[in-house]
Amino acid sequence: MSEMLNVALPKGRLGDKVYALFEKAGYGCEELADPGRRLVFESPEHGVRYFYVKPSDVAIYVERGAADIGVAGKDILLEYTPDVYELLDFGIGRCRMCVCGRPGFRDDPGRTLRVATKFTKITRDYYAGLGRSIDMIHLNGSIELAPILGLSDVIVDIVETGATLRENGLCVLSEVCGISARFIANKVSSRFKYDAVTALTARLRETIEVEK
Ligand code: PRP
Repeated sequence: MSEMLNVALPKGRLGDKVYALFEKAGYGCEELADPGRRLVFESPEHGVRYFYVKPSDVAIYVERGAADIGVAGKDILLEYTPDVYELLDFGIGRCRMCVCGRPGFRDDPGRTLRVATKFTKITRDYYAGLGRSIDMIHLNGSIELAPILGLSDVIVDIVETGATLRENGLCVLSEVCGISARFIANKVSSRFKYDAVTALTARLRETIEVEK
């Protein structure tokens, strides 16, 4: 049993898509057909034990070894820089990290730019790269409200369909980076469960290629 691979999946729509890939790769788990209130799902025949956590927590489980492997958005990996191996780009959960604001907004270099975001490291790195000093405003959600109410000049946030921006009279001003779901592994597990991690990675890689 200790040789089972513990797999942290992100709760929600992305997690469902990711599990579908694991299933296609030959790592299905019967217990997931009827989840009930359970939190952990085992497939002894395939040597995997799945559990769903908040998407932003996957990297913590994997970094600390509570999960051997997991799937996390590139946004989380860039923001928290967990000490894990990034093994595959799943190419799903695609979205963009963008600077957004009111249409026609012009940055006045003579003033400090007020930027609201949940992603403070990504934002700091981006503006540092531009040599632009900013006043960082850290928010935990509903970031789009900030420029609407004058709390900030712009925001740095995830744009997927663009609907949230459109419906709130905002637009993309520039793109910071592209985001997609990544397959990550704990560094110690990658050594001690080398065969299992390598086999699963290879099967997932083949499955992703077929899906492309
Ligand atoms: C994200 C992001 C935007 C929205 C973009 O929020 O912060 O608000 O999705 O998606 P769209 O381009 O398809 O409209 P999320 O739903 O993850 O919740 P949050 O407000 O807690 O960040």
